[in-house]
Amino acid sequence: MSEATWDIQDGAIVEQPREIRRHPLLARIYERHDALISESLSTGRTLELAFGQHMHPDADVGLEGWLSNAQSVPDPAVAGDARSLPFEDASFGTVIGRRFLHHVPPEDRQRILSEAARVLKPGGRVVLLEGTPGLYRRLTKGVAFRLGLLEEDTDIYGHLSEADVYELVAQEFDVVTKRTLGSPLMVASIAESDLSKHLYEAYQRTQFVKWWTFVVGEKPA
Ligand SMILES: C[S@@+](CC[C@H](N)C(=O)[O-])C[C@H]1O[C@@H](n2cnc3c(N)ncnc32)[C@H](O)[C@@H]1O
Repeated sequence: MSEATWDIQDGAIVEQPREIRRHPLLARIYERHDALISESLSTGRTLELAFGQHMHPDADVGLEGWLSNAQSVPDPAVAGDARSLPFEDASFGTVIGRRFLHHVPPEDRQRILSEAARVLKPGGRVVLLEGTPGLYRRLTKGVAFRLGLLEEDTDIYGHLSEADVYELVAQEFDVVTKRTLGSPLMVASIAESDLSKHLYEAYQRTQFVKWWTFVVGEKPA
């Protein structure tokens, strides 16, 4: 019997996500996101929440709900819950979180932002990247399921709209950046063929699909 790759813990969907490095185009997109996040880092230590199997190269520590993710990265990481962070007040300059708020029941999401605000120093930043809902995402997922590239749909709570992410951040932080990212070529990021990485330039030139929301908030001084 194959090992379980996801579970529900206290309502949160924790999982071992797909290995990004097996998907050459997706790997390049993550590198682009890493660079974008780097531009928004504040001074001080950086924490990445719910990093899955890919922690930002500038993160000093990560926190993950799925134990084997926390154990498998080369950087320091702890197993834990983003709704109750095991870190002291004002101990970080930046908190990063990518593609994970939709794994937590809607009523718990503000707690995550409050916890991020608690562990950040005044002037510190929260940097979030979340998938947006929409027809193109539904179609892409439909294709992936048909091709057998996705086995189970764990996105039971649905994705957050741009406005949802903005509102969560704005309750605790001054929003300093808000933009969407994504291209119709996102569908090709599922491919494992090395050839797919050559689509990256075209992916960059066709940024008119709202696939991700990128929001940076700053904790008031
Ligand atoms: C879709 S994956 C995204 C992983 C990674 N951030 C990325 O972009 O590749 C969602 C991640 O959130 C983690 N997660 C979900 N709820 C969590 C919680 N309450 N606390 C910590 N991690 C959580 C899951 O274990 C999973 O690794």
